[in-house]
Amino acid sequence: MDALARPIIPPAPYVHPVDLSTPRLVVATLSNTLGNWSRNAFDIPYGRRKVLGVDSLLVNDPAAIREVLQTNMAAYARPLAAVRPVRPLAGAGLLLSEGAAWRGQRRMLAPAFTPGSVESLIPHFHAAAGSLATRLAGEPRANLADAFHQAALEAVLRSLFSLSAGPEQIELAAMVRDYVATAGRPTLFDGFARAESDFAFIGGARRRFQKRWFAAVDRLVAARRAEPPGAGHDDLLDRLLAVRDAETGQPLSDVEVRDQCATMLFAGFETTSRLLFWAAYLLSLDGAEQTRLRQEVRAFPPGRLGTLEDLHRWPRLRQVLLETMRLYPPVPILMRQVVTPHALCGESLGKGCLVWISPWVMHRHTVYWENPTAFIPDRFAGKATPWISEPAYLPFGGGPRICIGASFALAEASIMLATVLNRFEISLESDGPVMPVGGVTTAPDHEPWFRVEAV
Ligand code: HEM
Repeated sequence: MDALARPIIPPAPYVHPVDLSTPRLVVATLSNTLGNWSRNAFDIPYGRRKVLGVDSLLVNDPAAIREVLQTNMAAYARPLAAVRPVRPLAGAGLLLSEGAAWRGQRRMLAPAFTPGSVESLIPHFHAAAGSLATRLAGEPRANLADAFHQAALEAVLRSLFSLSAGPEQIELAAMVRDYVATAGRPTLFDGFARAESDFAFIGGARRRFQKRWFAAVDRLVAARRAEPPGAGHDDLLDRLLAVRDAETGQPLSDVEVRDQCATMLFAGFETTSRLLFWAAYLLSLDGAEQTRLRQEVRAFPPGRLGTLEDLHRWPRLRQVLLETMRLYPPVPILMRQVVTPHALCGESLGKGCLVWISPWVMHRHTVYWENPTAFIPDRFAGKATPWISEPAYLPFGGGPRICIGASFALAEASIMLATVLNRFEISLESDGPVMPVGGVTTAPDHEPWFRVEAV
């Protein structure tokens, strides 16, 4: 099939012809935050609505989004509804910190994510991709959602701690996946809570998870601290332990190191594994694109890739990853809450108003994209960093709080996908659609089996 002439339209939840009534909206949102949108949402620059007394504004206008995420970011904070489910995963690390604490953390962590630093992690990405290929080689079929989850965890474990994925680490991946799909899913109680401690009676599973998760991360950090000085790891933990506050000269405390590690582990592998899953899914639906990518990868096999510059040898692969994040953004919604009343989109917003910036909606918006529901990697031809240059493309968020791990994620995902395509042809065992479900990340509604044939 010629992907340009007849692009595939991959599965997406039903778009309602008109806005849902409040009761239907609540029910739809609880089952899938991607399945509650009406046609209108994908055409308009903004929409305001009160749901169960909560004032909310969906913002689709790129200039207004820039105001929220950048020029007027001090007027907003992350709402409790978004913080509560993520707190047990990320503690007080960069993702959930605010104000001066966030600025200080971002400044300290930035050197660990420069291009030079990410480049030095490439051997870790190769090692994780190699383990993935070895695991896939043994079986005729694979649950790729699971396989990519383990592989992305291994990539981040190696990058953070120079660790390979042993049984304890595989258990960690399963624990996080289970949390995100169960206790970590936002609930109505999160929407109505006025403090992180409210509705403590429903928080038991979250607290139990946090205890186990933080204990596991503590063990990983403790193992490193127990090593003799100068053991010489080239990983992110080494850089975190070497960080010093610019004013006080103090290193990070144990809890700070633990929370940053937990944040990087969670933020780093949950998102990238979703990207890899959806890319594999799209390439199974579009066999011609998969063949084309394989040719590109074979012309410059993954084993030869040693620098970030080398990634330019796989331009089509990058376009496919970028288009995958457009159609299935790993983070489907960015939520903010007004802390200082002001006007946006000509609307006057009071304290507490919820502002929804939805990569899911923006990436399928009819004003900004031609044929928005179709899989067309060519639309990113020649665009090296569209998350910066394209105002309607927000897979990594935007403004000063843009994802710190964007180039880490793309380098890792490119190496992982190239390694798989170089060795295997992948296809779906069943024709049934796989639906995206919105939660903390964009997950598949079920984990399909893929045939994995050596080529
Ligand atoms: C495809 C992969 C990834 C996607 C789509 C992604 C997406 C995002 C998005 C949308 C945000 C902004 C959230 C907001 O403003 O509410 C964010 C922030 C963040 N991401 Fe990523 N991310 C990815 C990979 C990574 C990786 C690999 C790491 C670390 C190893 C990472 C670490 C972080 C951190 C620490 C933040 C918080 C930054 C701050 O608030 O200053 N992410 N990410």
